[in-house]
Amino acid sequence: MSKILEVKDVHVSFMEERKTIFDRRNRIEVLKGISFDIEEGEIVGLVGESGCGKSTLAKAILGLVKPDSGEIIHHSDHPQMIFQDPYSSLNPAKNVRFILEEPLKNMTSLSADERLIRAKERLIQAGLDEKYLTHMPSELSGGQRQRVCIAQSLMMNPKLLLADEPVSALDVTIQAQILKLLDELQDKLKLSILFISHDLRVVYNLCDRVMVMRNGVIVEQGVPHDIYRHPKHEYTEKLLKASGIWKE
Ligand SMILES: Nc1ncnc2c1ncn2[C@@H]1O[C@H](COP(=O)(O)OP(=O)(O)OP(=O)(O)O)[C@@H](O)[C@H]1O
Ligand SMILES: [Mg+2]
Repeated sequence: MSKILEVKDVHVSFMEERKTIFDRRNRIEVLKGISFDIEEGEIVGLVGESGCGKSTLAKAILGLVKPDSGEIIHHSDHPQMIFQDPYSSLNPAKNVRFILEEPLKNMTSLSADERLIRAKERLIQAGLDEKYLTHMPSELSGGQRQRVCIAQSLMMNPKLLLADEPVSALDVTIQAQILKLLDELQDKLKLSILFISHDLRVVYNLCDRVMVMRNGVIVEQGVPHDIYRHPKHEYTEKLLKASGIWKE
């Protein structure tokens, strides 16, 4: 196995909001020295309370947020993000075909025919019939929209996906379908996935490894089965208790 991503001692800080105009703005460190690797074909879960820095980490990996220090080394091209809310992440003014083909127009020299073929292929891989190419996002259910988002994320043949709470906005039965799809796609396309979630149960079922984050620090990581049975950190214990899956 070889590495698809290396994150080395990454620090990210933001300027604090002023409460009054007289306040000094302090820098708040949100990521405090994050280091980990993701191997080819690995699904890594990232869990932790709201505000602990999970999305900031995903953004830093994609270059949307600039680290103060540290290093992020990609060993693959075109890593893609899948967002929580399939309602706001699709352009409402464009049909599915346009949405899928758009990245190809800017970033490849594929012909119009080749773009259409790729769009159909990815849509079908994401579990939707090609008839949906002509649909607008508003004509799709939440689950169908998230399938379009997943198809879109696959258009540039990425090897690394960053999925930030990709099923949190969906009904439970739809959640299960989308998780199954991600699992199948991972296997078929040999993807690596950083899977951000509040749901420790989902992470247990889906992920090869889990990282527990607290206040911008990864407090422990390992195989879910081990971590869930024998958490080393009291914060992990707290998360497990809160999730209701920890009975012993
Ligand atoms: N652009 C920004 N400017 C200032 N502060 C920010 C910015 N983005 C995030 N933060 C702060 O950084 C902290 C971490 O936010 P982040 O979105 O990474 O958390 P999270 O773990 O993804 O939470 P959630 O589970 O709710 O999505 C929060 O305190 C947030 O207010
Ligand atoms: Mg977040």
